[in-house]
Amino acid sequence: MKIFSVYNIKGGVGKTTTSVNLAYLSAAAGAQTLIWDLDPQGGTSYYLCVKPKIKGGTDELLQGRNRTMAQLRMTGYPNLDLLPSDISYRHLDAQLAKSTRPLHGLERLVAPLAKQYDHLFLDCPPGLSLVTENVFQMTDVLLVPMIPTPLSLRAYNRLVQFLVKRRTKKLRVLPFFNMVNPDKPIHRVVTKNISEKHPIFLKNGVPESNLIEAMGVKRSPIFTYARESPEADGLRALWQEIIRRSA
Ligand SMILES: Nc1ncnc2c1ncn2[C@@H]1O[C@H](COP(=O)(O)OP(=O)(O)O)[C@@H](O)[C@H]1O
Ligand SMILES: [Mg+2]
Repeated sequence: MKIFSVYNIKGGVGKTTTSVNLAYLSAAAGAQTLIWDLDPQGGTSYYLCVKPKIKGGTDELLQGRNRTMAQLRMTGYPNLDLLPSDISYRHLDAQLAKSTRPLHGLERLVAPLAKQYDHLFLDCPPGLSLVTENVFQMTDVLLVPMIPTPLSLRAYNRLVQFLVKRRTKKLRVLPFFNMVNPDKPIHRVVTKNISEKHPIFLKNGVPESNLIEAMGVKRSPIFTYARESPEADGLRALWQEIIRRSA
């Protein structure tokens, strides 16, 4: 099972939107895919129309291995399941801190799922917390959506410095731009500089788009209502590039 985490220190940059669309593409291509909503805001669960109330919440989840299975939900899309979050996820940090191996609590929970799924997507909360440190421990590919502004680059540099200090294994970091608006000079300058100087960034970015924003109203991945749009094609190209770069 390969673990893709969609993460940024910053909120509101498109982590949840990207997680849902990429997980949908992974599943549509035939990979058994699970998306885990780690944010107490429950955006992924909302987009996938799953009720934001889990019996027992994170207390129950952390009780033991088989509890993860009990909280799995089908999304109605072939090959795509969800581990939803609810408001109890706000306690996850404190609960992990009390556990015997605070940095490996989440890894332990997904271990039994490895046989069942090819791809696991983690939709992460923003910030640098114990939850995100758990994420870094278990992730194979860290996808970092960023709005192309100097402050975003600064936050990204902070993240890289943090990972260099903390990293314990194989994590591959793949940053890319989201909500790109070519009418904004700052977006043009930042995307041009980065593509010339930093090959680590993915070539495919995601534009600022009303169609993508409409996911909040449609409550489904963009491919279900705008399959033929340039945005849908762009996301397919992004996913293909991610697969190539993470092979
Ligand atoms: N490419 C995009 N174009 C336009 N709006 C977007 C795009 N990606 C995300 N959004 C919007 O930006 C807001 C934040 O996105 P979200 O995925 O929830 O970010 P995060 O998970 O990082 O907090 C949402 O209202 C979402 O609809
Ligand atoms: Mg989110």
